[in-house]
Amino acid sequence: MAFVQRTHSCGELRSEHAGKTVTLNGWAHRVRDLGGVIFVDLRDRSGIVQVVLDPQQFPAASDLKSETCLSLSGEVRMRDESTRNTKMATGEIEIKTSSYEVLSPSRPLPFPISDEEQMKTVGEEIRIKYRYIDLRRPSVMQKMMMRSSVVRRMRSFLDSRDFLEVETPMFTRSTPEGARDYLVPYRLKPGQFYALPQSPQQYKQLLMVGGIERYYQIAKCFRDESQRADRQPEFTQLDLEMSFVTQEDVLNLAEGLLMDVINGVIDEFGLDKEHVKPFRRLTYDESMLLYGCDKPDLRFDLPLFDISAIAAESDFGVFKGAIAGGACVRGVRFPGGSKLSRKEVGELESFCKEFGAKGMASLSYEEGEFKGSIAKFFSPDLQARLKEVSGVEEGDLLCFIADTYMAGSNVLYRLRNEIGDRCGLRDPRVLSFCWVVDFPLVEWNEDENRWDAVHHPFTGPKDEDLIYIDSDPGRIRADCYDVVCNGLELASGSIRIHRPDIQAKVFSLLGIDEATQRSRFGHMLDAFSFGPPPHGGIAPGIDRLVMILADTENIREVMAFPKLGGGYDPMMDAPSDVDEAQWVELGLMMRPTPKKEG
Ligand code: AMO
Ligand code: AMP
Repeated sequence: MAFVQRTHSCGELRSEHAGKTVTLNGWAHRVRDLGGVIFVDLRDRSGIVQVVLDPQQFPAASDLKSETCLSLSGEVRMRDESTRNTKMATGEIEIKTSSYEVLSPSRPLPFPISDEEQMKTVGEEIRIKYRYIDLRRPSVMQKMMMRSSVVRRMRSFLDSRDFLEVETPMFTRSTPEGARDYLVPYRLKPGQFYALPQSPQQYKQLLMVGGIERYYQIAKCFRDESQRADRQPEFTQLDLEMSFVTQEDVLNLAEGLLMDVINGVIDEFGLDKEHVKPFRRLTYDESMLLYGCDKPDLRFDLPLFDISAIAAESDFGVFKGAIAGGACVRGVRFPGGSKLSRKEVGELESFCKEFGAKGMASLSYEEGEFKGSIAKFFSPDLQARLKEVSGVEEGDLLCFIADTYMAGSNVLYRLRNEIGDRCGLRDPRVLSFCWVVDFPLVEWNEDENRWDAVHHPFTGPKDEDLIYIDSDPGRIRADCYDVVCNGLELASGSIRIHRPDIQAKVFSLLGIDEATQRSRFGHMLDAFSFGPPPHGGIAPGIDRLVMILADTENIREVMAFPKLGGGYDPMMDAPSDVDEAQWVELGLMMRPTPKKEG
């Protein structure tokens, strides 16, 4: 179908174009009919420009509806001084229309995309159902453009460092990353299934055995796990792997890459963010001790402190009892928290209880003295020690949790972030990156009574810790590392096992017997018997990286076509029923769901 094609994009027009005749293609973002004149904000991917139509010349223009798709020609002219809009990049000029053509009309919209304020009240389900309209919003479009820039920069960084981009299969066998698999039935052998990859982990290691040496892929991963704000059932990683490297080599490469990509995007899009600085490094043990978690938000200080020794000598029954029972007492400082009302402190305690705390005791520090109902249980000497370990300052509130080390860590980590929020310490302009290194190799799974891999079963134990593999596996540290930014885990990786004997030993430790090792991972053990190179890698989550750049806590905002909770896609109405014939062809039958008891 013939139509007049654009000479310019809407967003590029500036005062230097004044006097030029241009043709634009785009959508009527907003239409204002003032009687004597009609203003249309014309929008394309690049931006918005104001267009003026004379109703005498174009009587039908008064019927133009929002989101009508248009081709429009006219002269660029300077706006009057008084009507210039400094908030718009094109705000100095407007287009005096000489002709226009409706390329396609639009029905009334399901939501008002030109009004960002009103859009905040629109439910997410309807936005995702009509995602192709939602995508037209400049704020959403910007996220797609940032995402594309992130991927382009990643490719260019790695291409210039001698990496090969290699695609690995989607129809494969299960690769354990800790979630359930999505399965695809295999028509030719009813009862057999492919698994969609939870990550390309095994393939990338096999590529190293295959001599590729430096690999990357923008890799789709599929994981059937409970959704959270930062998790989707299908998501994208920048997956990479390198041969003949040490942990230090991978860390340097990944840090350089992330700094290059992020600082580049900040500049390209003029984001209100500080450039990323070289990453801090923490061991897993330090991170747990100081921040109660392995993904600390380092935009603010406030390390946790341990008062177990002081608490044991105090007269406070709750603390003494907890310590006698093997717990520890740790705390966190709430700057300026002594001003909180009793009710507000109660709310903080309820917050802690939501995460399993049995209670939260507190002390305020005013006029150089500890105050609060438990102050009397601490002698002057103990109070002096409390002051020293906590680093308390005038006007602070100290919050304490008595619990096992791990349970207390979990509460204090969340409480610390909550305090950070309440004190306005989590500045969105700051991107505070760190490496967390030296994770444990395995952790004890109470429910299943077995050791689980902290990262995945292919992660290499530290040579010097291998001696504990039979006697004390929980003590083995791994050559494993995470990138954390502002409290979000952005990337994980490790140096891998490449010796078949060690791999078999680790599988056994994880409770995978020899027969299962052969049937599930025989290809890895075989491959490691043909001169595998030492190798390691990492995989940053692309969606999470864009979340940080786009300042959103909802991963769906940075995906073109995200799924709702439960993995449902309301736009395509997927998953969906299939024809009877397909069930038959695949040899599948529905099994009645066992009735739940009770
Ligand atoms: P891991 O499982 O830690 O490691 O994943 C690496 C990174 O992928 C992102 N990510 C997710 N993003 C969105 N939704 C999800 N459900 C989701 N799960 C993970 C995170 C995470 O840091 N094969 C290893 C990597 C390696 O060892 O090289 C792996 O997949 O940003
Ligand atoms: P109780 O003796 O249970 O009334 O508790 C006295 C104070 O200690 C209250 O402020 C409780 O919130 C607090 N508390 C109780 N259990 C704990 C705990 N495990 N850690 C910290 N504070 C606690």
